[in-house]
Amino acid sequence: IGQNSVEVLGQSYPRDDFTNVTPKILAMVGRNLHNQSHHPLWLIKERIKAHFYSAYIRRSGTPLFSVYDNLNPVVTVEQNFDSLLIPPGHPSRKRGDNYYLNRTMMLRAHTSAHQSELVKSGLDAFLLAGDVYRRDEIDTSHYPVFHQMEGVRLFSNHELFSKVQNGEELSLFECGGQRTPQKQETHTLEAVKLVEFDLKDTLTRLITHLFGEDLEIRWSDCYFPFTHPSFEMEVRFQGNWMEVLGCGVMEQELLNSAGAGNKLGWAFGLGLERLAMVLYSIPDIRLFWSQDERFFKQFRVQDIHQPICFQPLSKFPPLHNDISFWLPESREGQESFTENDFYELVRSIGGEMVEKVSLVDDFIHPKWRSYEDCPPECLDLRLDLVHRHNVTSARNRLYTLMD
Ligand code: PHE
Repeated sequence: IGQNSVEVLGQSYPRDDFTNVTPKILAMVGRNLHNQSHHPLWLIKERIKAHFYSAYIRRSGTPLFSVYDNLNPVVTVEQNFDSLLIPPGHPSRKRGDNYYLNRTMMLRAHTSAHQSELVKSGLDAFLLAGDVYRRDEIDTSHYPVFHQMEGVRLFSNHELFSKVQNGEELSLFECGGQRTPQKQETHTLEAVKLVEFDLKDTLTRLITHLFGEDLEIRWSDCYFPFTHPSFEMEVRFQGNWMEVLGCGVMEQELLNSAGAGNKLGWAFGLGLERLAMVLYSIPDIRLFWSQDERFFKQFRVQDIHQPICFQPLSKFPPLHNDISFWLPESREGQESFTENDFYELVRSIGGEMVEKVSLVDDFIHPKWRSYEDCPPECLDLRLDLVHRHNVTSARNRLYTLMD
C-alpha cells in the first residue's frame, strides 16, 4: 500500500512506468452495476439470461449456456490482448486508450479477455457479463466504464452437421485451404456458413426477444483480430443506425491454444448500456451511475419482462418554495376558493418545471375569520390564518458526474 502500489479490490499491484489508472476510475471498480438488483443493466442482463436459459436447452434438460457475471475486472495484458491474437504494438494496446495498473496488469477493455480461460476450463457455451474500462471522452453516449455481455458457442463436427442431410460426410476442417473474405484457411466453407448462420440467428432472436419484431436491424462486415469473418449488428434508433454488438467466427488459433482445436466457434460481445438506452429510452449514459432513488424507482418492476419507458428528469437542482396567503371568507356556503384554482394557477405559470404542489397547512383562527377581523396590533399573526402551500419546482438533479 502507499505511493508505490495501486490497490484494487483488496489486491495490491506495484506501480511502474505504465501505470495510468486514476483514483476516480478505481472508485468505480467494484460498483458492479450489472449485479445490483433492479438496476437497468442488471435488468437487461437478467432478460438476456432468461432468453438463453429458455431458448437453448440440452437434451438432459439443463440450460446449454452457463452464465458468469462475477469475474475480476483486473486481468493480465496477456488475457486482454495476447490470448486474443492482438499483436504487440497493435493500436488497441495504447496507454492512451486503456487503464493499466502496470506493464502486466490492466482493467479489462472488453469481456473477450476471458474467452480463452473459459474455453480452457472446458465450457462449450457461455455468457459472461462484466464492467469494462476504456479511456475515452465523456459525453451522452461515452463513458470510461461500461458493461458488456460476451457470448461464446463451440460446435463439434457432430453438433454442427447432425441436422444436415448426409452430414456425416461433411467436415469442419480442410488442409491447404485459403483465407478468403468468407472464411479462415483451416475451415471448410460449409462449416463456416452454418456457424455464421447460427450466430446471426441467435443474435437476431435475442434482439427480437428484447425489442419485439418492429426493431430494424442490419449487419455489416467488420474486423476483429480474434474472429474471421467478423460482423457488426446495428439497430435503428431515433432515425440513426447505432452499433450494438460485434461478433464473428472465432479464430481457430485461439481455440487451438485453448485446448478446443477439434471445434469451431462463434463469439459476440454486446454493449449493455447501448441496449438499455434504446430499450428504456435512457437519454444519457451517465444516468447509469446515478445514486438517485428517483432513477432506480423506475426500474423496480415485478416481472423483468415488463415494458419500461424511462421518464427523463430535469437536470436543474430542486428548489422548494413555501407560499402562504389569506383567503376571503366563503359566503352562503359558496366556496370562493378551491385547491385546484391554485394548482392551475401554478401550472399555468410554472409549466412542466413544477414537479409538485402540496398543501402543508390550513388554519382558521377561531376568532378572526378574515383579514378584516384582525386587529392591527395582531397583524403579525396573519400568517396563522393562511393556507400554506409548498411548491417544488424542478425535479431532482439526476447526474452524478465525475467532475
Ligand atoms: N470484444 C469486441 C469489442 O469490445 C467485441 C467482440 C466480441 C467481437 C466477440 C467479436 C467477438 O468491441
